[in-house]
Amino acid sequence: MALPKSVRIVEVGPRDGLQNEKQLVPADIKVELIGRLADAGLMAVEATSFVSPKWVPQMGDNAEVLTRVLAARRPGVAYPVLTPNLKGFEAALAAGAEEVAVFGAASESFSQKNINCSIAESLERFRPVTEAAQQAGVRVRGYVSCVVGCPYEGAIAPAAVARVAQTLLDMGCYEISLGDTVGVGTPLAVQRMLDTVIERVPVERLAGHYHDTYGMAAANIFASLQRGVAVFDASVGGLGGCPYAAGASGNVATEDVVWLLNGLGIETGIDLDKLVDIAAWISAGLNRQAASRVARALLATRSAQA
Ligand code: HMG
Ligand code: MG
Repeated sequence: MALPKSVRIVEVGPRDGLQNEKQLVPADIKVELIGRLADAGLMAVEATSFVSPKWVPQMGDNAEVLTRVLAARRPGVAYPVLTPNLKGFEAALAAGAEEVAVFGAASESFSQKNINCSIAESLERFRPVTEAAQQAGVRVRGYVSCVVGCPYEGAIAPAAVARVAQTLLDMGCYEISLGDTVGVGTPLAVQRMLDTVIERVPVERLAGHYHDTYGMAAANIFASLQRGVAVFDASVGGLGGCPYAAGASGNVATEDVVWLLNGLGIETGIDLDKLVDIAAWISAGLNRQAASRVARALLATRSAQA
């Protein structure tokens, strides 16, 4: 199959990245981060999550962050937020959300650890969210976690992923993001999973959300491109992990994805130099180097030329 000509990248660093940081990041920094990412050409920047602050204290400033981001919004950019239930949806709506995401899993154990309910219960919680969203004219994206492997159960059957993905699609989600939450996937396993999911969900409605724990995320993106997937989630500087998946590292770094796609001649509309500046800035603020090899290499090249 020919590779897609252009790819949409959904930046998830301010949510999936920062949610895992122990040290509270000030709202000012989050708002600046989101603004800079939009300036770099990202057309979707996941801003925060409306989850319980007891479970994820880092996202406790969700309403402030979203309100401030929307006040300074860049035209045409989407700022989705995570909403696990109706309570979260109502709070997000009150803060002005125009796009939300519900998040389920293909693994029972991960569902319990992450959102404290079974897969079936989670889907019942999402139904009123999607109905209320439809009434309010809010778009809903659906996530499925643990699409290849689970930190508690090991390998996950592709059929389990397809079932949850199709249910989310039938509920009205406009896109289903398939999460390799712990980053254990390798290209063949990802393609086998996609082949099963694509039987029930059109590939145009799928996104890949790959964590880079084992360094396989770029290979998994290439494998997914070969199946026709043209939307990928990524996190600037490779920020993050998952609070309920011990040992999982961040999402694939946005810079790595842009580098890969630039090399393949696939359009993203993203300015790689600006992205590298953002990766260096936010990583320094968190007292570390950018996790991405591309950011490190480009920063080293710049300082050698200076
Ligand atoms: P629960 O305890 O089962 O919920 O939590 P509950 O309905 O029994 O409520 C308990 C308390 O939480 C009550 O407060 C509620 O008001 C409150 P209390 O009476 O004790 O003071 N509550 C809320 N507060 C704020 N916002 C809400 C909300 N809902 C209830 N929306 C719940 C269930 C889902 C809320 C909880 O388990 C939770 O917040 N979990 C956090 C999940 C999370 O954020 N995980 C990380 C994001 S998912 C991810 O990273 C994976 C992804 O990237 C894809 C991938 O990589 O695979 C998307
Ligand atoms: Mg994730």
